[in-house]
Amino acid sequence: MSIKVALAGVGNCASSLVQGIGFYREHPDAYGLLHKEIGGYRAEDIEIVAAFDIDRRKVGKKLKEALTCKPNCTTIFYKNMPDFPVVVQMGPVLDGVSEHVKEHDDDYSFSIAEEKPCNVVEVLKESGADMLINYVPVGSEQAARYYAEACLEANVGFINAMPTFIVSDPQWAKKFKEKNIPAVGDDIKSQLGATIVHRVLTDLFEKRGIKLIKTYQLNFGGNTDFLNMLNKERLDSKKKSKTNSVQSQLETPLPADKIHIGPSDYVPWLKDNKICYIYMEGLGFGEVPITFELKLSVEDSPNSAGSIIDAIRCLKLAKDRGIGGALTSISSFTMKSPPEQYNDNTALLCVEEFIAGKKGQ
Ligand SMILES: NC(=O)c1ccc[n+]([C@@H]2O[C@H](COP(=O)([O-])OP(=O)(O)OC[C@H]3O[C@@H](n4cnc5c(N)ncnc54)[C@H](O)[C@@H]3O)[C@@H](O)[C@H]2O)c1
Repeated sequence: MSIKVALAGVGNCASSLVQGIGFYREHPDAYGLLHKEIGGYRAEDIEIVAAFDIDRRKVGKKLKEALTCKPNCTTIFYKNMPDFPVVVQMGPVLDGVSEHVKEHDDDYSFSIAEEKPCNVVEVLKESGADMLINYVPVGSEQAARYYAEACLEANVGFINAMPTFIVSDPQWAKKFKEKNIPAVGDDIKSQLGATIVHRVLTDLFEKRGIKLIKTYQLNFGGNTDFLNMLNKERLDSKKKSKTNSVQSQLETPLPADKIHIGPSDYVPWLKDNKICYIYMEGLGFGEVPITFELKLSVEDSPNSAGSIIDAIRCLKLAKDRGIGGALTSISSFTMKSPPEQYNDNTALLCVEEFIAGKKGQ
């Protein structure tokens, strides 16, 4: 059985996901997956059945071609991408493109197509999609909600990879519950990225009796995600999502002026390579100071695909079992802002129980 997925946003994360599907079809026993199999589903069972974007270089193209169009810049780790019979359709632009992005060179920024938007609900229904992944840029609040509404109308599951609070918002979660449509969100937590490393270290300080007194996490990169986030007005949700994800690991959260977490700058030549610096300062035995510094360098988009590939399969499993509403276990495992925050060991246990059918959501 295949899993039918629609994409809103054919950017770097979408490219890594599609490459990954091809890669694991050819190398089913290769490393790099959180779970090889989830309820009988493997990475290679995923099929893309619809795709929406707004960029003139992508709209109207076959998905496989669109994924390698500028401004996408992530690494091509698998050249022979699956050729799904999907043409990228024009979505509604709404607030998807920030004004400041347009001032940058076309090769690095978004360029809006002139086509009229398609009927997203109709396309979703005709495609037979099990779910849609929302990959629109940070700060696209209207666009994110538009795609969530379209899923509710088309009876399609919803995975929210970006930090507009939808699945973690009780009112939205209620809408998905009422229609018995499964939803996973919000804001993908990469397989081994800045958030999970900072969370695990924060938990370690807590468990080893070290009082964390200040910390920062500075992130920069050269993809359109980082370009988009130069606009501080669009950044609010991302900062909240990343900060709360770390604060949730502390019994007593740090005062706001002692924690600084967020996207910090844009360096075009880094492309999809993201650099993260974490600093932590604590008090140990006898309140003697301890400091800790770390540099992480990762290719951002494959790192996100490593998590989304589990979210997709758990959502499909929920659908097969007739479970709707916010899926708390897989959301806490794969998202920075889930409806319920656990530490990452508990989140893993919850997912295992969900997969085994011992836990409903
Ligand atoms: N590790 C990660 O890469 C990571 C982690 C967490 C969250 N995210 C989030 O996932 C989202 C996708 O990331 P990305 O790196 O693929 O971004 P990207 O900038 O490469 O892609 C975004 C795509 O959305 C398209 N778009 C803009 N407005 C649209 C609209 N109204 N309808 C349809 N498409 C629209 C753009 O043309 C572009 O192709 C971002 O919000 C990002 O913050 C990524």
